[in-house]
Amino acid sequence: MGNIILIGFMGCGKSSIGKYMSKRRRYKLIDTDSYIEEKEGRSINEIFASDGEAYFRQLETDCIRELIEMSGKKLVVAVGGGLPMRGLNRELLHELGTIVYLRTSIDTLEKRLQGDDKRPLLQGGELRTKIENLFAQRESTYEELADIIVDTDNRTYAEVFMKIKENLK
Ligand code: S3P
Repeated sequence: MGNIILIGFMGCGKSSIGKYMSKRRRYKLIDTDSYIEEKEGRSINEIFASDGEAYFRQLETDCIRELIEMSGKKLVVAVGGGLPMRGLNRELLHELGTIVYLRTSIDTLEKRLQGDDKRPLLQGGELRTKIENLFAQRESTYEELADIIVDTDNRTYAEVFMKIKENLK
């Protein structure tokens, strides 16, 4: 089994499910946001504020390229919600491993993202509208890119993990 890549909207549970999977499968967990923050020595908010979104998107592409070079390691990669929106990144993700879309309803996303201050694209204005607009732009890309789609609403991490395992067989 090669690397497993978790994609989906902000708040869909990529990092939490990634953490759970890495414990169960003894894979190394890479969260692209944390990877970028560590490398840059500053937060996503700071990167967006000082250098802008385009700069951050280039860091995401660099990150995926670096992960492809990490041969021999079994990785679970939790990918920032906007990373798959760049065509080149989609090609690189296919090269990196099996892509799992954690599909989550807008109602659930809204509940999970309430009060969040770590995601620059959701700051200011009405949260629900922001989620709806971005989700509408991204939904079909996530679905087309995925090798496997797993619904996460009303499922525990263990249940989501079971579904992923069933589909990987
Ligand atoms: C973003 C999602 C975030 C982070 C950045 C931009 C997006 O990651 O990469 O704030 O464009 O959807 P999560 O999906 O892990 O929250």
